[in-house]
Order: sequence, then structure tokens, then C-alpha cells
Amino acid sequence: MRVFITGGTGHAGSHIIPELIAAGHEVTGLARSDKSAAALSAQGAKVRRGDLEDLDGLKEAAADSDGVIHVAHRQDLLPSGGMDAVAAAELPIMLAYGEALEGSGKPLVAAGSIGSPGNLGRPATEQDPALPSREEDKGTLRVRNVVERAVVGLAEQGVRSSIVRLPLIAHDTTDSAGFLPGLIALAREKGFAGYPGDGANLWCAVHIRDVASVFRLALEKGPAGRYWHAIADAEIPFREIAEAIGSRLDLPTVSVPEDVLMLPGYFGQFTSLVTGSFPASSLITRQTLGWEPAQPGLFADLDNGHYFPAG
Ligand SMILES: NC(=O)c1ccc[n+]([C@@H]2O[C@H](COP(=O)([O-])OP(=O)(O)OC[C@H]3O[C@@H](n4cnc5c(N)ncnc54)[C@H](OP(=O)(O)O)[C@@H]3O)[C@@H](O)[C@H]2O)c1
Repeated sequence: MRVFITGGTGHAGSHIIPELIAAGHEVTGLARSDKSAAALSAQGAKVRRGDLEDLDGLKEAAADSDGVIHVAHRQDLLPSGGMDAVAAAELPIMLAYGEALEGSGKPLVAAGSIGSPGNLGRPATEQDPALPSREEDKGTLRVRNVVERAVVGLAEQGVRSSIVRLPLIAHDTTDSAGFLPGLIALAREKGFAGYPGDGANLWCAVHIRDVASVFRLALEKGPAGRYWHAIADAEIPFREIAEAIGSRLDLPTVSVPEDVLMLPGYFGQFTSLVTGSFPASSLITRQTLGWEPAQPGLFADLDNGHYFPAG
């Protein structure tokens, strides 16, 4: 398949490209700079110069391809507009892909969030749609939900569209800017590994190479209009993550009240994620796509030491 990918130089995309090439696909990546173009070429991908703001360019690239994987995101909008602004920039892009791929039956696979079904009081499944609004659920990102629903809805226009929901922790040796290195850096800075309240809220995790294989399988054979869950370690109490970090840094593990977590020097705008509970099942993803995580789990990867360089 001739695959167009955005975000191919990012954390997820840089693992999706080799996964696709190893499976025999021809990959073209979007690059907005010489540096990104060189990184894509080094991975064995073709380069299409352009920017996420050029919707006509994205449409053309999508129409020229046999399928699209979209994992770029406008991280530059985070400081001024928060996570909602980052997600809002995705919507016109998805609608542009929809126009380009309408009626073609070609796949469009984009990244989503494991928090999008909201707090259901049970593990979320792939059959739980993204909530249409923020409602009262902590950790539910309204704008990102609109994007997820729009992508899945493109199935009605003849696009084989799907969303791969990622957990907050997608770990490996190249995870330099994710939540896990953020938690570790904060523990070093504060002198303790913190968790909210009793730390019983549940997080999930996955190795980023296992994420890459979900994207490939969804592209190759995922039915239209579906959510997939790239979840390997389901339902880890946040306290256990803090304890794992604390023990490896030789620091105490401490409960932190929510009003302290919200302070700027702490989690600030990410507090609702840190206090949120995101139990999720990946059974349907495994059964439908034949996916099985093959890489180390979270605690085994923490034992590998790369998150805790000396000094
Ligand atoms: N990785 C995780 O742990 C994780 C966890 C949960 C959810 N997710 C979701 O998965 C998706 C991918 O995340 P990621 O961590 O792989 O992202 P990332 O490492 O931050 O990479 C972002 C990518 O977007 C590209 N990009 C940004 N602005 C662009 C623009 N204006 N034009 C063209 N390209 C642009 C970047 O290209 P340059 O190289 O040019 O900067 C880079 O390739 C996101 O939607 C994220 O929310 C990721």
C-alpha cells in the first residue's frame, strides 16, 4: 500500500514508519523542515514537503495515497490554547481527508485518547464512542472527542476510517517528552514521587512499538468506523506507577492533595488527567485485528533503566 503519514518524525510516527516498511508498504511522510525531511529519508520513507496548515496539500497527498495515517499534532498551540486548541486544529484536517477520500473505501487511521469515552465506572471498550461533550467527567477532552467522532463518522462517507486510542503512557527508549518522563522529572525536582489522593485511580500503558502495530493492522484490515485500543497494561493504580518511580530514584512516594497538584509548578492544566481514571479493555482490538502486544510491559521497561540515567 502507498501510505501517506503525518507526524512521521514524532514519537509514535517514528515507530509506525519502520513497522509499515517492514510489512512491505511504501511510505510518504509529511515534512515541514529540512531536518524532518532528512529524518524521514533516513527511515526509508519518501518525503512530501508541507505543513498541517496547508489543507489543500494534505487533501492532495491523501488522494494520491492508498491510505493515510495521521499522528501529527500542533503541539505548538499547547502553551497558548491548551489541549483543546491542539485538538481543535485537528478537525479541519480530518474533514479535509474526508473530502479527499470520500467514497474511496481507503483507510484513514488517526490517533485518539483512551479518556474519550469518559468515566464509565467500568473498563471502556472499543464499542464505547467518544463522549459528545465534556459533561462532568474528569479527564474527558471535549474537543478531542469531537475530532474522534468526526473521524469515525467519515465511515458514513465511504472512508475506512478509524481511531487508535492511546493511553497517557506510551513507553520506550525514545519517550523523551511523554507523561512518564514528565512524572520522573517532577519526582526528581520535588524530591518525592507524588500521587493524587489515595492513588487508586487507574492508568493504562503500552510500548510504543506495540502502538505502531495497531496502526498498521488498522490500516491494513480494520473495518470502517471503529475505535481501537492500543492498551497492553490495563488498570494500573497510579500509586503503583509513583512507587515504581520513587523506588528507582530512591525517593519517598507521597500522596499529594488535588489543590496542590493544580498549582502551576505541579501538574497545572494536566491535573484532570493525573487524577483521572482510564480503565480500558483491548479485547476487541486483539480479536478483530489479531493484535498482541509483543514488547515489554511498563514495569519491565522501567527496569531497563533508560528512564533513569545516572546523574
Ligand atoms: N506518544 C505518546 O506517548 C502519546 C500518548 C497519548 C496520545 N498520543 C497522541 O498520539 C499522537 C502522536 O503523538 P506523538 O507523541 O507521536 O507526537 P510528537 O512526538 O509530539 O510529534 C508531533 C509530530 O507532529 C509534527 N508536526 C507538528 N506540527 C506540525 C506542522 N505544523 N506541520 C507538519 N507537521 C507537524 C511534528 O513534526 P516536526 O518533526 O516537524 O516537529 C512531529 O512529527 C498525538 O495526537 C498525541 O496526542 C501520544
